[in-house]
Amino acid sequence: MDDLIQPPAATPAESGKSAKGKPKKVREIPENLRKFREVYAKAHEGAGAERIAAQKAKGKLTARERIQYLVDDGTFAETGTLVETACTEYGLKEKHIKGDGVITGFGKVNGRDVALFAQDFTQLGGSLGLAHAIKIAAVMDKAIEAKMPIIGLLDSGGARIQEGVESLDGYARIFARNVKASGVIPQISVILGPCAGGAVYSPALTDYVFMVEGISHMFITGPEVVKSATGEQVDFDTLGGSGPHSAKSGVCHFVAKSEPDCFRQVRELLSFLPQSRNERPPMGDSHDPANRRVPLLEKICEIHPRRPYRVTHIIWWLADEHKFLEVHQNFAKNIVVGFMRLGGDVVGVVANNPAQLGGALDIQASVKAARFVRFCNNFNIPLLTLVDLGGYLPGVEQEHGGVIRNGAKLLYAYAEATVPKITLVLRKAYGGAYIAMSSKHLNGDFNFSLPSAEIAVMGPRGAIEILNSRQIKEAPLEQQEALKEKLSKEYADKFASPYQTASIGSIDDVIEPCESRFRIIQSLRLLKNKRDPGTHNNAGNIPL
Ligand code: HXC
Repeated sequence: MDDLIQPPAATPAESGKSAKGKPKKVREIPENLRKFREVYAKAHEGAGAERIAAQKAKGKLTARERIQYLVDDGTFAETGTLVETACTEYGLKEKHIKGDGVITGFGKVNGRDVALFAQDFTQLGGSLGLAHAIKIAAVMDKAIEAKMPIIGLLDSGGARIQEGVESLDGYARIFARNVKASGVIPQISVILGPCAGGAVYSPALTDYVFMVEGISHMFITGPEVVKSATGEQVDFDTLGGSGPHSAKSGVCHFVAKSEPDCFRQVRELLSFLPQSRNERPPMGDSHDPANRRVPLLEKICEIHPRRPYRVTHIIWWLADEHKFLEVHQNFAKNIVVGFMRLGGDVVGVVANNPAQLGGALDIQASVKAARFVRFCNNFNIPLLTLVDLGGYLPGVEQEHGGVIRNGAKLLYAYAEATVPKITLVLRKAYGGAYIAMSSKHLNGDFNFSLPSAEIAVMGPRGAIEILNSRQIKEAPLEQQEALKEKLSKEYADKFASPYQTASIGSIDDVIEPCESRFRIIQSLRLLKNKRDPGTHNNAGNIPL
């Protein structure tokens, strides 16, 4: 089927040359063929030089250029090129805008099929009318049926005002399909201009949202409405740019410096994902030995339990060729999630990050990790969980903000997930947070620990202050600190080690730190056939 990757080259007759390459007597082109070529050439021309220049002046590419960057050369097959609006209001129909402000079709990324749509801001501001929506819905339907990812390139003024409620209904058609596709095929949204009003909810229903610094904006109401409603003065970037949405709201998973950089990132993400829930992710051709030793993990055994370090270093050293694609890099930095390969297999990693809040679980970290775990479970991606945390983040803000309700999402996601789950406790795992981080009885498959790990109901200091409070209070004041130290050490020797946990089977094995990569890959291979793709993963990827 490789001959389908590129369209056929022009025949000598079409090129106006003879088979020997000599100029040929010009053949009269039939009228229907001439008209066909003229109609399509005009449709591909788009909105004309002036509007395209205005688009470029904003530092943006055109919709067709974007598709070229995204898909493999020569693979794009367009649908609905000639579709026009039926709306007669405000002289809309007489404008004869071919394609109705959106380019839809299919192409290949890294040699694999994708469905896509690209809103064209140069045509009616990329606004969404009924015909525009029906075109998008049609490629989404086909992507669900034929089981391939759907990618939306969004650059739009929102609901087409001239078309009234029909344009709102158009959004409803898309939202309904976003939900139908959820957990069935990967859905990616790339915001490349404005995305305003209710339009923001289509990306929010998809699995991953990309934004580009300076040109992407998402908000329910723009700066003017915010000013009149609340009196707050805010500009587009501060309200809905890639900065706040990647770091504060968590709407955006990936930020790019430029559009080409963004499309490179989309292609990289797709390289980790299966075409649908019925497939496994593509194997990599890794040359990194499965039994490569990872001496960095020995260092973890040396350092103080509360000393911060960036867990991404550990992930890089474990990963094939040290490659790790971090998701949601700027959001809830106390937990790190992302994709890597181990022995060629794609793995989703969830890791507490002691460099931020000591790696504690809070509301945002729980929600971030829970949605990632659910995505991996939807798409047959095994999970590796690296544990190093003192517990949940304490505080009134967390309690009143719903750390109970949101923390439960992570427990639910792990307990529900039936993909292979491997857990490695690096340094400490206490209390409820120990349970939440893919513990054995929350259905972990292989649970390992480094020799340095402290696993207990609570940290030694907190534990002895409760267990020995009377003894401590009764001791002379100047001796209390030394007594606490002694009792803490006794407690740590007895309980805060992996051996007690391993003796009751809650840890399968305490492992040699340098052999961690080998043990994880060995476990992944053992679990390879734990679940057949397409079974036990019928849940949608609801936005949490
Ligand atoms: C129809 C629209 C449009 C819209 C823009 N245009 N938005 N046409 N419906 N929603 C047209 C403009 O009339 C203009 O046409 C062309 O697109 C370019 O727009 P400009 O305003 O010149 O561009 P710019 O200065 O870059 O400003 C872009 C913008 C602004 C910030 C997006 O156009 C804007 O604020 N638009 C409205 C955004 C908005 O409020 N949308 C929400 C709608 S309600 P001409 O022919 O003059 O060049 C909604 C609800 C959805 O979306 C609910 C779903 C459930």
